[in-house]
Amino acid sequence: MSIFINDQTKEFHLTNASISYIIHILRNGQVGHLYFGKALRHRESFQHLYRTSNRILDVYPIQSDSSFSLERTKQEYPSYGTSDFREGTIEIKQENGSIITDFRFKGYTYYSGKPKLMNGQLPSTFCNKESDATTLEIELEDTVIGATLVLSYTLFENEAVITRNARIMNVGSETIRISRALSCCLDFDNDNFEMLQLSGAWSRERHLIKRELVHGIQSISSTRGASSANHNPFMALKRPETTEHSGEAYGFSLVYSGNFLGQVEVNHYHLARVTLGINPMLFEWKLSPKETFQTPEAILVYSDLGLNGMSQTFHHLFLNHLIPKPWHKELSPVLLNSWEAAYYDFNEDKLFELASKASTLGMDLFVLDDGWFKNRNSDHQALGDWIVDKKKLPNGLGVLSDKINQLGMKFGLWIEPEMVNEKSDLYKLHPEWVIQTPERSKSYGRNQFVLNYSNPEVVDTIFKLLDTLLSEANIEYIKWDMNRNISEPYALNLPSDRQGEFFHRYILGVYSLYQRLRDKYPYILFESCAAGGGRFDPGMLYYAPQVWTSDDTDAVERIKIQYGTSYIYPIKSLGAHITAVPNHQILRKTSLKMRNDVAIFGTTGYELDVTKLNVEDEATIKEQIKFFKRYQALLHLGDFYRLISPFEAHNSNLASWMCVSQDRGEAIIGIYQTLAVVNPGFDRVRLRGLDPELLYRIKGSNETYYGDELMSIGLSIEGLYNGICEENMQNGNEPLFGFGDFTSKVVILETADRL
Ligand code: GLA
Repeated sequence: MSIFINDQTKEFHLTNASISYIIHILRNGQVGHLYFGKALRHRESFQHLYRTSNRILDVYPIQSDSSFSLERTKQEYPSYGTSDFREGTIEIKQENGSIITDFRFKGYTYYSGKPKLMNGQLPSTFCNKESDATTLEIELEDTVIGATLVLSYTLFENEAVITRNARIMNVGSETIRISRALSCCLDFDNDNFEMLQLSGAWSRERHLIKRELVHGIQSISSTRGASSANHNPFMALKRPETTEHSGEAYGFSLVYSGNFLGQVEVNHYHLARVTLGINPMLFEWKLSPKETFQTPEAILVYSDLGLNGMSQTFHHLFLNHLIPKPWHKELSPVLLNSWEAAYYDFNEDKLFELASKASTLGMDLFVLDDGWFKNRNSDHQALGDWIVDKKKLPNGLGVLSDKINQLGMKFGLWIEPEMVNEKSDLYKLHPEWVIQTPERSKSYGRNQFVLNYSNPEVVDTIFKLLDTLLSEANIEYIKWDMNRNISEPYALNLPSDRQGEFFHRYILGVYSLYQRLRDKYPYILFESCAAGGGRFDPGMLYYAPQVWTSDDTDAVERIKIQYGTSYIYPIKSLGAHITAVPNHQILRKTSLKMRNDVAIFGTTGYELDVTKLNVEDEATIKEQIKFFKRYQALLHLGDFYRLISPFEAHNSNLASWMCVSQDRGEAIIGIYQTLAVVNPGFDRVRLRGLDPELLYRIKGSNETYYGDELMSIGLSIEGLYNGICEENMQNGNEPLFGFGDFTSKVVILETADRL
């Protein structure tokens, strides 16, 4: 890992074994971009990569050089209005009404390591030791505004990643108003790409959407106060020929959980510009003299090993440099969650009964979901009153957690600390703490309101309530839920000229509560949740290593949700529960086997009334848990490969993925079929990541294959229903997937001589 700097040509080349990122200072003093991609041999200058030409009618900032126009110059942190007509990264409203900025090179510095953002008030990737990363900071100034801008770039030694953020400092004497401050820009030489995004809705989160780039702006965004189930703060650009396993792809992600904007603008010269950051809509930050504003962190990934290579880079980065320790390596406990087992209808005996049964089945953690606090018998009341309901739990949470601990299980609790119901003591006491616009009515969402976390007094009160709660019982896991988005955005605690700061201050308030709880209770495992996956983003992963992926636990729906989510998030972070059938969200019936075969490619838990299981299902679940624990390290710490996509129209009936151990000696493959197929061909799924020279055996059979056979020819998935089902059943010739619709198979490969 090195930074090469040519002071004469003002070039900066950040490079490690995988990537090169090259920046230069343009002739007008602004920062230009030369290259981001596969690692290049260093040479003294890369100026030959710079391209320009005279184009009639372009506007140019230097009179003597009409060939230099920002409209077609690759830039690092562009702004609109000084010969570039595209949307930029920065806009500052000055007291004279102008929005024009012109930040010019002042100097640079670089150092080992990576500082926290806003002294730790914003989540960000981190290094484990200083030598893990190098940071380059380029300082620019706009003397008319009286502001400096620092563009910060971090290169990790072992990752094909550049992380970026920008800091704006008011060094003048007038207040300035920042109305746009994105985290990154990446300009390309052409628009020969397809754009990928993960979009959806509640219970249909992170479905993969692919589109060709066209002229104009294509964007993803949120204005909901949360990153949202609708668009994840992630985009990728891939070349048209790029596949899952070959070709170039660029991935972009934002370590942020609030409103965001990600867009690709293609201009009239076929130049694609990617920008990502806080959504400028509803944003304006007032910066007084001497104050600094820092943007959230953007992550830029390059892969020449296709989309799966890009995903593995994100997974590796998140596990090693984002998810809090020790959870990045620690194997998560198998949990039983009380929600779909009992909803609001329980007492201490019922909970203890559930936990006792869960413990005999081999589970490690009992999670008491919604309904445990005073008067919480439906979703119409009580949010905000974080004290135990003595009617349901007369002995309190301390006694319950002790009893559960005596079973050898950990105890966990659900909270929704950002919310309040109108019917609650907290609301009666502080109706002004709810987000509301003066003289306007407040909209409802799940019968609740959102607390104004931009107000430190609110955050402090909730911290104290939770602190008391956590000191009363041995709580080792918290599910932090967030079940509605923000409407009528306005902060009663902020003056009128700071209302544009509200959304960002809200999310900073959420982060500060997370940080305070994590500092005081570092042993607690947090799982973030937002009605399922409504706030699944790298910002949350910094505090909570697991995320409840979706409220939809139907095995068939989950294949798409988990497959999509895997494009960026490690499967170790994907909360995945086995629930009852008919499924409570979609009423589909799938086998316990299929539900398990999907859930093990995530952080597995159960969420059903285990006291009502029949003997056969009990035995199955015991075996499933044993199996999961045996292979959990392979599943959660191995390399993940997508094999057959449920999003491809031509094979949407099938899906497959696999995990391979770091030493490539062991692999686990999940194969799923939605509807039975009559008289199919001799289909195969091509495996990935194996050692071509190694002989593997399919566990439970005598079949052996070399890695090269499995990767070049594939694993057979023939033998589906062939029309003589009854006969086959009688002969015991069960096809690979079993019979009927909604079937699955998990295959283990082991090195042949291990058996
Ligand atoms: C949300 C969560 C669920 C459950 C309920 C409880 O919907 O996503 O898992 O915790 O709230 O009210």
